[in-house]
Amino acid sequence: MEHHLPRSPEAKLARRDAVLAAVTRASELLSEPRPWELLVAQALGELGAATRVSRTYIFEVERRDGVDLVSQRFEWCAVGVTPQIDNPSLQGMPLDNGFTRWGELLRAGQPVFGDIGDFPESERPILEVQEIKSILVQPIFEGSRWWGFMGFDACEAVHSWERVEVDTLRIAALLLGAAIHRQNRESLLRESQKLEALGRMASSVAHDLNNFLIVISGAKQLLQDEVRSSGLHSHEVDSYSSMIDQAVARANALTTRLLEFSKRRTSVPAIVSLPELLRNEEPLLRQAMRGRARLRIVDDCARRTIAPVRIDPTELAQVALNLVVNACDAMPSGGEIVIDVSTVTAPERPACTDQIPDGAWTLLRVIDEGHGMDAEVLAQAFEPFFTTKANNQGTGLGLSTVKRIVQAAGGHARVSSAPGRGTEFRIYLPAHR
Ligand SMILES: Nc1ncnc2c1ncn2[C@@H]1O[C@H](COP(=O)(O)OP(=O)(O)OP(=O)(O)O)[C@@H](O)[C@H]1O
Ligand SMILES: [Mg+2]
Repeated sequence: MEHHLPRSPEAKLARRDAVLAAVTRASELLSEPRPWELLVAQALGELGAATRVSRTYIFEVERRDGVDLVSQRFEWCAVGVTPQIDNPSLQGMPLDNGFTRWGELLRAGQPVFGDIGDFPESERPILEVQEIKSILVQPIFEGSRWWGFMGFDACEAVHSWERVEVDTLRIAALLLGAAIHRQNRESLLRESQKLEALGRMASSVAHDLNNFLIVISGAKQLLQDEVRSSGLHSHEVDSYSSMIDQAVARANALTTRLLEFSKRRTSVPAIVSLPELLRNEEPLLRQAMRGRARLRIVDDCARRTIAPVRIDPTELAQVALNLVVNACDAMPSGGEIVIDVSTVTAPERPACTDQIPDGAWTLLRVIDEGHGMDAEVLAQAFEPFFTTKANNQGTGLGLSTVKRIVQAAGGHARVSSAPGRGTEFRIYLPAHR
């Protein structure tokens, strides 16, 4: 038989005080300048002990193919309680599977709480397997995005949740969401500062290099003239001189790349139709491919339903060019490159692991059937100067330039790939109204 904990007024007050103290402590912890992932276990422990529940935990939500999947990320358990962190059914659990009510409440910023006995039939089996008698679940928001939830399970006895306790614990979930939000923004800022510093360095290297190249080219010309006029001209001299020319041309291309990366030209945004831009750029893209692969720009591109975007058209063309050249390089023995444009809104967008904020996006996809990337390359692909191309074939600045351009236009660049399975780049640009 279920029983309630004996709750004298004094006991109730003592518990409220303890919960308040634990939330205060959690707030101190989460404002420490350390990753929240390292602090959250201790915060969960303090909150669990204060509320006298059996478990406290954090779930993160991930939207995939229009369905919210939740996975347990952190857990604290009281002594003698069976942990659930390794319970496979709590990983990637779809919320529309009997828990639609939870999804609706949590997404709307509302808690779910009460005795399991009072919960709808569809929710009970999973909760009862974990021996939960009553539960409180508070949503976590990262800015305006529903990030997940923080939960409290009572397994030993039914736990009557008082309104004040529910509200106090809501503060704990709000604080955690704020810490996650702050840290995500800080890491974006650090990344952009790093890129900016690299950009300054790249541009100064490019300028110095350019000056040396002018000297080298000029001196080579003088030398050649000198050799000619002194009658020492030979076939060898011609071939040495063309080696110098080739090296100078390569170095010039490199400085152009460095300058593109460091963005010395000011961008001039315009309202651009992506399908139209691709049609105009198609000859250039084909030229860059030098017949190494087939290119297919899908028919949908011709449709007028694609929302325009606000971006510098030259820069957008550069994005397409970089992606197409990379795709070509990944297919040394040929294959097909598909460019596809669509307008997507958050719930229906493909590959929803992309974690793109809600809204309307114009999506450019560049898909190849090339050698793909392993996890290690994938993790670094967008890093400036990261390249797997041997013998100075690549500068490693292509994708970091893509990323810079896309981010400056308020967009997002994403990629999926696996060795031998080809690669798909997805460029999300805000749909212009
Ligand atoms: N479509 C793709 N398929 C497989 N690997 C890719 C693809 N696109 C990029 N990569 C990997 O990412 C790395 C970085 O790409 P990025 O365009 O930044 O530089 P790069 O192509 O090596 O040099 P550059 O663009 O200056 O010629 C590449 O060296 C390659 O390993
Ligand atoms: Mg490249």
